[in-house]
Amino acid sequence: MTRSAELPQAEVGVIGGSGLYQLVDGGTAVEVSTPYGPPSDPVTVGRVGGRTVAFLPRHGADHRFPPHRINYRANLWALRALGVRQILAPCAVGSLSTELVPGALVLPDQMVDRTSGRACTYFDDGAVHTSFADPYCPNGRATVAAAAREIGFEPVVGATMVVVEGPRFSTRAESQWYAHQGWQVINMTGHPEAILARELQLCYTPIALVTDLDAGVDATDSVGHAEVLRIFAANVERLREVLHRAVPALPPDSFGCACARGHEGVPLPITLP
Ligand code: ADE
Repeated sequence: MTRSAELPQAEVGVIGGSGLYQLVDGGTAVEVSTPYGPPSDPVTVGRVGGRTVAFLPRHGADHRFPPHRINYRANLWALRALGVRQILAPCAVGSLSTELVPGALVLPDQMVDRTSGRACTYFDDGAVHTSFADPYCPNGRATVAAAAREIGFEPVVGATMVVVEGPRFSTRAESQWYAHQGWQVINMTGHPEAILARELQLCYTPIALVTDLDAGVDATDSVGHAEVLRIFAANVERLREVLHRAVPALPPDSFGCACARGHEGVPLPITLP
């Protein structure tokens, strides 16, 4: 185990779920300490397609952190401390539309935050207001879309993801309300991951896999966690292939896009090693 004092450097960060843990070849587990406490687990730093990748299991390798208990600030800080400027963030989502069926790949371009009480900024002292009109990296999205198309996994590019507090799934009324707003997918981890990435000037690209029809869409069944895990596992191989193709297509640094300019003129809330 490598500890903070001798941190290796990585180019791309992947925050992922179960089934993606073997993404990185010959990885080293790195224990990163942060001002916010430990991240969900040690970060595995290794190679993917010739690039150095830092992989972090969002919920912990044993899935011990539910969405509302994830230490998002520590997770993003740890990746930035490893030198990462690009984040790919695979996640499971429910569908709010009959047109998006389980197994579909969605690359959202908008987000609605319906969480509450999560620590969602590094700027607790001093008024810093970060631009977030476009929460996700347009270049990262295009890169992942191209990678998915290469393997015939046609993505839905552009969608609004509503992020709910959880850990319960939504009622039918809540779900119908979200759908009526015109929002397409729903999950529990998209916030504050994206805004913390933006505060750290990272390009952040969610890669959403539809695992279920949410309660307002499916009139018969209630959403169940086992089904979410089953559908995610059934598609994880394709998701891994998308990541294997997208990672080497990303730049080693920032794209130089607006993601790195969310709070221009204000120093980063992190001292880089
Ligand atoms: N993650 C996967 N499916 C979900 C759903 N239906 N609601 C919230 N989060 C989810």
